Amino acid sequence: MNTSRKMHPLAIRMMHWTNAIAMIIMIMSGWKIYNDEVIFGFLHFPDAVTLGPWAQHGLQWHFFGMWILALNGLAYLAYGFLSGRFRRLLWPIRPREVIGEALAALRFRLPHADLTQYNAVQKTLYVGVMTVIVLQVITGLAIWKPVQFAGLTALFGGFQGARLVHFFGMTAICLFLVVHVALALLVPRTLLAMFTGGPRLDEAAAAPTHASHS
Ligand code: HEM
Repeated sequence: MNTSRKMHPLAIRMMHWTNAIAMIIMIMSGWKIYNDEVIFGFLHFPDAVTLGPWAQHGLQWHFFGMWILALNGLAYLAYGFLSGRFRRLLWPIRPREVIGEALAALRFRLPHADLTQYNAVQKTLYVGVMTVIVLQVITGLAIWKPVQFAGLTALFGGFQGARLVHFFGMTAICLFLVVHVALALLVPRTLLAMFTGGPRLDEAAAAPTHASHS
């Protein structure tokens, strides 16, 4: 019996897809709340892409998604640090490689790598989006309870400052999602692996390198 681990163990796959669903709930319900009191006069989100008939429902969806996102995110971070997954897959990030590989990716010439390894651009995007999500939780707390978390809110220059950082965090996550989904669709093998688990790690180490996505 082969007991070796797959590239994406079941726990990682479950947490990844739970996070994706929770994040979409957060974004769409956040847009509903934003529409109720816009930051930029020119920007309203169409009803078709918002969640809940009224801002109050949007808020309820936002809190529902928030609990899933926060608990699932904590479990993922704990797993990633304790199991050594982050050290193996996301570390180290060398600026020289990030620049070189980003330029190559723009010319669709990213060197083919093993599916079980992330390239420097992927590492940067994944660490970047995780950092932004943590910041979203912090700014979210600051605008949810500005009195109880007054110190936190002050850190962002007050309620409006925290609200603005929360908005730009959402924008960064949306940009990440566009690139991330496009890359996953461009190299469907990676998408399939996020459902099936992908290659077993010892097989991948023995086999010649495969093409992977940027
Ligand atoms: C905002 C929502 C999302 C976030 C924050 C996110 C974040 C991540 C992160 C951090 C990883 C690396 C996980 C690890 O190896 O431990 C990952 C992998 C992956 N994600 Fe997402 N993801 C999101 C949504 C999606 C969606 C909607 C898709 C579907 C198209 C998708 C497809 C994938 C695939 C295929 C991989 C594996 C990449 C590879 O093996 O090269 N993700 N995602």
